[in-house]
Amino acid sequence: MKVLCFGSLNIDYVYDVPHFVQGGETLASRSLHAYTGGKGLNQSVALARAGLEVYHAGAIGPDGEFLLELLREAGVNTDHVERLTDVRTGHAIIQKNEKGDNCILLYGGANRSITRQQIDRTLAGFSGGDALVLQNEISELPYLVERAKAAGMLIALNPSPMDDTLPPLLSSIDYLLLNEIEAAQLLHLETPGDPEEMTKCLLARIPKASVILTVGPKGSFYAEEGVLMRQSAVPVQAVDTTAAGDTYTGFYLGGVFNGRDPSWAMRFASVAAAIAVTRPGAAPSIPSREEVLAKMKEMEE
Ligand code: RIB
Repeated sequence: MKVLCFGSLNIDYVYDVPHFVQGGETLASRSLHAYTGGKGLNQSVALARAGLEVYHAGAIGPDGEFLLELLREAGVNTDHVERLTDVRTGHAIIQKNEKGDNCILLYGGANRSITRQQIDRTLAGFSGGDALVLQNEISELPYLVERAKAAGMLIALNPSPMDDTLPPLLSSIDYLLLNEIEAAQLLHLETPGDPEEMTKCLLARIPKASVILTVGPKGSFYAEEGVLMRQSAVPVQAVDTTAAGDTYTGFYLGGVFNGRDPSWAMRFASVAAAIAVTRPGAAPSIPSREEVLAKMKEMEE
C-alpha cells in the first residue's frame, strides 16, 4: 500500500510566553525558535517513521526548500510537492506556555495555492487500495476527497482546523482522527463533552468509519460499528505538545495500515505521542519506530 499525505508544509515560529496573549495586551516573548512543521508535513514524517511507504503532496514557496530536506531525511517521497515562485511558504505563529501547551495562528501561503490540476496529476499515480491522509490546511480539499473516493482510495481525515467545508466530506471518510475541541465543533457543542459519548455520537454520523478521539493526558477513544475502546495516555512531563496529535495520527495509521488491530495501533500511537511531547518543536519531536517499539517493550516488562 502506498500512502499519500496531501497537506500543509509550514515554517513554525515558536514563541515561549508566560501565558497566551490576550486581546488588547502587548506581551514580551522569552525566546523564538523556527522549526519544520505543518500538520501535513508532521503527519507525513510520523507515517514514514511508523514504517509506511509515504508520498507527500503540497506546495512551498522559495523559502521552503529545507522542509523538503526534512521530509526526504524521514524517507518521504516529495515528487508531488510543487515549488511556487510567487507566494511564500505557509507558516504558523505558535505561542507555547510554561506547561508546554500551545495556541497556533496560521498563514496559509503556498498551502492555499493547491489547484485541481495538481490534484489530478498527483492522484494519477495512486489507485484503489492506496490511502490518502488529509488535514484541513490546504485549498481544494472537497475536490481532493471526491477524486480520491472515485479512485477507490481509503481516506483518513484529521479535521483540523475545523470549518464549514468539512461536515459534508465526512460520509466519504474511512478513518476520522480528531481531538476533543474538533469533536465538540463537529457536534455543535459549546465545550467538549464526555469523550466516550462524543466518540459514539461521531460514529453515529459516519457508521461505516473508524473514529479515533484523542484527549491529551486523558487518553484516546476508538469506535467502529459494535466496538468502543479506550487507551490510557502514557504519563510524561510535557515540554511542548505541538504535533502530539499529528504523531498520534501517523503512528495509529502506521499500525493499522501495517495490519495491526486498532487496540495495538492505539498503544503504538499513544507511546509515540508521549515521546513527542517531551521534546521541543513539531516534526523534529517525532520519534522513530524503533524508539516507540523499545518503549512499548519496556512498559510491558
Ligand atoms: O499540529 C501542529 C501543526 O499545526 C504545527 O506544526 C503548525 O504548523 C500547524 O500546522
